[in-house]
Amino acid sequence: MQSEIIVTDSLTKFYGKIKGIEDISVEIPSGNVAFLGPNGAGKTTLIRTLLGIIHPTKGTARVLGYDIRKEINQVRDRIGYVPEFDTSFIPDMTAMKFVAFCARMNGLSVSESKQRASDSLYYVGLDEERYRKLGTFSLGMKQKVKLATALVHDPEIIICDEPTNGLDPTGRVQMLSLIRSLQKNEGKDIILSSHLLRDVEQIADYTLVFSKGEIRAQGNIKELTAEKRSSISIKVRSNQEKFLQRLNDKGIESWIDGIYIESQISHDVEKEIFKIANETNADIRYLGNRSRTLEDVFINLFSKEDLIE
Ligand SMILES: Nc1ncnc2c1ncn2[C@@H]1O[C@H](COP(=O)(O)OP(=O)(O)OP(=O)(O)O)[C@@H](O)[C@H]1O
Ligand SMILES: [Mg+2]
Repeated sequence: MQSEIIVTDSLTKFYGKIKGIEDISVEIPSGNVAFLGPNGAGKTTLIRTLLGIIHPTKGTARVLGYDIRKEINQVRDRIGYVPEFDTSFIPDMTAMKFVAFCARMNGLSVSESKQRASDSLYYVGLDEERYRKLGTFSLGMKQKVKLATALVHDPEIIICDEPTNGLDPTGRVQMLSLIRSLQKNEGKDIILSSHLLRDVEQIADYTLVFSKGEIRAQGNIKELTAEKRSSISIKVRSNQEKFLQRLNDKGIESWIDGIYIESQISHDVEKEIFKIANETNADIRYLGNRSRTLEDVFINLFSKEDLIE
């Protein structure tokens, strides 16, 4: 059984009349966790509330047992935060000075700060560039600096808010593998906030799905996408309509998805599908199992409206 690193209790944040998050009561396990949801769903609001950057309108939360309302310094000591936007960069400062400065802000001594800054920059792959000025850094390099600042005080939890935004494919892969290695090799608990399913699928074992300031679903990704809920993809060359109609008439729930017909799996369904194909003169060109992807889960959870908004 995984232990919980964060427990929230009716956590609510309104910006005036605008809802950020409402009545969030969740238990977040240790490991690789993702906050997944479309733009404006409340992911950043929850993160900023947990860090005490903004104050809850109602409710509270505990991070590793510390109350965010009463023990925010203890909370901040234990979280490394890679923010979505960062305006704190000082272009004339070298990466080394900047990260060491962040370490000092976290209460480390001068010598400790230098050592930790150097180690963190090495970890994110910016060893050679550490004495270059931040103003000359690419977006991908800046993202790595942000990660280095999050690591500098050796926190137990690392929260990354949309860390691959604006990165090219190579930068994205590098960033994701760095985050993954933090969990695998350093034993950090990771929270990744993203609207990108492909990022979430690569990093996380557990996900909380956000919509309109609330948690719509949560669970182990393997369980959410469990094989038993998968379907069969069938491609036929002729009589597609008739074949589809007959499948549904026979109680095999089926629908068109692109060039394939998708059929719900049930006992002995393949035998029945071949029988129906034979009866309707539908020429089967392909038949294969299709695992349920996180995308299927995600799309099922949201109405079209949710995704457009
Ligand atoms: N400072 C603010 N003032 C007013 N409203 C805000 C503020 N920050 C966020 N909101 C509103 O709160 C809601 C949740 O926003 P939030 O930024 O938490 O979503 P998100 O899931 O992080 O979205 P994204 O994927 O775009 O980063 C949105 O309706 C947003 O407009
Ligand atoms: Mg956000």
